[in-house]
Parts: sequence; C-alpha cells; structure tokens
Amino acid sequence: MSFGHKHILGIEHLSREDIELILDTADGFKEINTREIKKVPTLRGKTIINLFYEASTRTRTSFEIAGKRLSADTINISASASSVVKGETLEDTARNIEAMHPDIIVMRHSASGAPHYLAERLDCSIINAGDGAHEHPSQALLDLLTMRQHKGRIEGLKVAIIGDISHSRVARSNIYALTKMGATVRLAGPGTMIPPGIERLGAEVFTDINEAIRDADVIMMLRIQLERQGKTLLPTLREYSRFYGVNPQNLKLAKDDAIVMHPGPMNRGVEISSAVADGTQNVILDQVENGVAVRMALLYLVSGGEQPEN
Ligand code: CP
Repeated sequence: MSFGHKHILGIEHLSREDIELILDTADGFKEINTREIKKVPTLRGKTIINLFYEASTRTRTSFEIAGKRLSADTINISASASSVVKGETLEDTARNIEAMHPDIIVMRHSASGAPHYLAERLDCSIINAGDGAHEHPSQALLDLLTMRQHKGRIEGLKVAIIGDISHSRVARSNIYALTKMGATVRLAGPGTMIPPGIERLGAEVFTDINEAIRDADVIMMLRIQLERQGKTLLPTLREYSRFYGVNPQNLKLAKDDAIVMHPGPMNRGVEISSAVADGTQNVILDQVENGVAVRMALLYLVSGGEQPEN
C-alpha cells in the first residue's frame, strides 16, 4: 500500500489505513534500533532539516536519530541560535533554508498552523513536530504504537487522557487518532482546562478523574502547559495534584493490567506521583523508544517509501 501524503501536518487528515500503514512501517523499523550497527541506507542522499522554534528533548532528538539511522543528512536549527533572533520572519527563514534544497523540514512552532503555512509555500515535505495547542501527530502515532505493543490492539481500548486538555496538542492528536482506530476516549481535567465542545471530536468528558480512570485500559497523563496559559487556571499545584494527579490509590480503579503513559516532560508530584511514574504499569520510556521508529517511518513514507524496511 502506498502512503500518498507529501506532508504530515496532523492526524485529522489521515485515514485509519494511513495510521495502520505508519504503525506497521514503524514496527518494521524497530529492529534496526537494537542492532549493533544501527544504520540502513534507505534515505541516503536525502537532507532533513529540524527547524525548532520551541524547546524539545524527545521529539527533536528522535527525529535526528531517525534521520541518521536511515542515512539521511540531518541538520538541526533552533530558533534561539538562528537569525530568527535578528528579526527574520518564518517565511524568509524557510525560503532561505529551502534554497539549500532540503527534502524534508521537520518543524515545531508555538503558532498553530505554522507548518501548514510552510507547506503551502515550499516545495519540500513538511512534518509537524508540534504546532501550538493544535497537533503533535508523531507523538500520537508513537502513543498508538506503544498501546498496540502492550495491548495487542487499539480498537475497543478505553483510554483516559487527563490534565490540561485545552492547551494540549498531544491530546488533540490522540483524540483524532484513537477515535479513528475505534478506541473510546475519556477526557478529564479541571473545567478551566477542558475546551468547550471537545465532545464533538468523539470523546467523553469528565471532571472527576476517578470516573475517567475507572476500568480504563490506558491512562495518559498530561503536563499543565503553563507556557500556553495566559492566566492562572488553577488555585495551587498542590490542589491540582490532589484532584487531578494519578497516584497508586486512584490507579487501582483502572483495569489491573492498565498502562500509564506520559508524553513528557513530566512534572513529578503534580500530574503524576513518583510511585506511578516509576511503577510497574508505566510504559513511558517505551513511548520514547517507539518515537524513534515512528519518526523513521514518517521520514520514510513522506519520501515515497512503501514497504517496511528490515
Ligand atoms: N513529547 C514531547 O513532545 O517532548 P519534547 O517537548 O521533549 O519534544
């Protein structure tokens, strides 16, 4: 099956078949990451630029590793160390980068729609590595790969996503991806952090975390996005932790074999207790490991690849 997408701008416009192809392709790439020589020639001669206007540990590093393991030339540009600080616009920056003939630009930006803006203006492929509070498609895909790895399926799973839903691009991409794949999505958080009308995306909404966690297969905890909140949306972090944090007590409400996920960076003692973050049900580092394989799959598929590489 061919992929047929030049860009990855969000999950919203991907089909269930697209998502399955990405996950299957990523599964095929996972083995490369455990070899002694972790490199295949698949994208030799391709140039990938990681253009990050916001901080990142996991996404930027794993896109860089993914490109290098596929033998692409991978270059990182962070806004703080570029001519952006001298006043250059996004479009001028991107046009100058494009003059060097990259094949793919992987972009993170604080403005929702920034990768779409570039995709309309440049000839190369654009992959959205997180745009404002809009989407973070590669995160949702690695989350689904991790669920499939641990649960054997995605269809029929009950997934509770808890925290600052309003400002979370991870939540939005996961809602799109999980509902397309037939999972049930439950959202929980303080009323000030639940966007009005989010049910229209097919999710159930709870203000009581216990109701969201009860009988869930997957608990996905989200960080409070203080950098995106224009004003204080909660009384104190202690109160937030008490009512909306996951801990060993409320985790007992979930299925016995439920898994706990977090996209990172996590704030221990706020949305997740250390006992849960380090507990037997957490799969947080599996998410990070799967992030490399998913990003290899995305780079490969937007480059025209069709079959998983072994
Ligand atoms: N999950 C995630 O996007 O992490 P980073 O901000 O470290 O890339």
